[in-house]
Amino acid sequence: MLDLLHLNKTYDGMQVLKDISLHVDKGDVTAVIGPSGSGKTTLLRCMNFLAPADSGTLAFGGGTYDLAHMTKRDIASIRMRTGFVFQSFNLFANKTALQNVTEGLIVARRMPKDEANAIAMQALERVGLKDRADHYPSQLSGGQQQRVAIARAVATNPEIIYFDEPTSALDPELIGEVLAVMRDLAASGMTMLVVTHEMRFARDVSSRVVFMEDGVIVEQNAAEAFFEQPEKARTRAFLKTINDR
Ligand SMILES: Nc1ncnc2c1ncn2[C@@H]1O[C@H](COP(=O)(O)OP(=O)(O)O)[C@@H](O)[C@H]1O
Ligand SMILES: [Mg+2]
Repeated sequence: MLDLLHLNKTYDGMQVLKDISLHVDKGDVTAVIGPSGSGKTTLLRCMNFLAPADSGTLAFGGGTYDLAHMTKRDIASIRMRTGFVFQSFNLFANKTALQNVTEGLIVARRMPKDEANAIAMQALERVGLKDRADHYPSQLSGGQQQRVAIARAVATNPEIIYFDEPTSALDPELIGEVLAVMRDLAASGMTMLVVTHEMRFARDVSSRVVFMEDGVIVEQNAAEAFFEQPEKARTRAFLKTINDR
């Protein structure tokens, strides 16, 4: 359902993504792992046009796009079919949980308010927050805010959801509730591309793993093979540092 080919990206003359290619099938949960600074966030930002790529192509939903020459129309059309969950939640502070979820439905998709409210309530129920619909972000824990952000992504019925370290900003005791929601989503067949440091999530939930370092994909494989028989010495060394923690 998604093919990224030969993505390159430089910042200030420094190449931060080098010839990145990856393939995602419908229903895949792909974990993107790697040390800090390896380019994981930039990869997701390029894939959702929050940062412009220098070169590369993206095949998605029947279209093939030259990432260096995206039109506003193509960007808008792809964004309508994808969801994004940020490390720092990115909720509107002056909107309730429900309003945060309906915003994209009413404004970008021009959905009638009643219909948007019904879909948003279903999405909030799915993340266990139906009873918090009228709460503002400041009245919610970090874990609850991130679950609202996930509900916001789910409500648009996307073909894929990108997650950028969705649990990294959370206190340890709140990580589990967010991972549980992500596990449920994965089990329901949602296609997900998840940048994460949570190795247990990568091991137990993901179907594929992509390991990045210094802007390149060092190794990618089905999750079981990746963890049981990593091919590259560099991958083995990285997994060891994590297991020794
Ligand atoms: N907006 C930016 N301007 C300049 N350099 C950036 C910017 N965003 C990221 N970088 C650089 O790109 C590299 C990859 O960063 P990033 O994608 O955030 O890595 P990761 O998410 O794996 O920690 C780093 O060297 C970082 O300093
Ligand atoms: Mg990052």
